[in-house]
Amino acid sequence: MEFSKLIETRRSVRAYASAASKEDIESILEMAQQAPSWKNGQPARCYAVTSPEALAEVREKGLPDFNANSSAGASLIVTTFVRGISGFGPEGPANKAGNYWGAYDLGLHDAYLVLAAADLGFDTLIMGIRDAEALKSILGIPDEEEVMSVIAVGKRAKEPGSRPRKAVAEMTKFF
Ligand SMILES: Cc1cc2nc3c(=O)[nH]c(=O)nc-3n(C[C@H](O)[C@H](O)[C@H](O)COP(=O)(O)O)c2cc1C
Repeated sequence: MEFSKLIETRRSVRAYASAASKEDIESILEMAQQAPSWKNGQPARCYAVTSPEALAEVREKGLPDFNANSSAGASLIVTTFVRGISGFGPEGPANKAGNYWGAYDLGLHDAYLVLAAADLGFDTLIMGIRDAEALKSILGIPDEEEVMSVIAVGKRAKEPGSRPRKAVAEMTKFF
């Protein structure tokens, strides 16, 4: 799809007719891997959940009901970043943003992920309201990783509504 069209038409979808397969997710993640990161440190990590048993457990224990319902029928990708990579040098944090840089890099990665998914015909929902401790325990996520989001990936069952944005002039100062 033309890039500007992709940007305009991607929306968070909260009703799924079908789930992305392991192969679909591999293709999406190949593209997401092209996201820039601090010194190419690539701190993003993904836990792709496609089996019915694992999906049921992640939904039941790792998501509040409203997000479990919104993502029903989709596959899930739990995204994390490894602390102490982005924003860090041999002497420690490069500036006071510290591990925020890891979250920054994961955000870029996940932005690429949702756009890559849209380009391949899939819809997504980023969910930041989740139980990180439950997800760590279910998926064996190591302590050095910060769990950020759970991203639903599948094909829409109904059209999402529009989400208006602030005008550029409202959120930008030119000098
Ligand atoms: C970091 C982040 C966390 C979010 N968490 C949730 C969530 O827990 N549940 C949900 O339904 N939507 C969640 N969203 C989706 C936003 O509500 C949505 O992106 C926003 O309303 C703009 O709509 P659009 O994505 O359709 O353009 C989240 C989005 C982001 C980027």
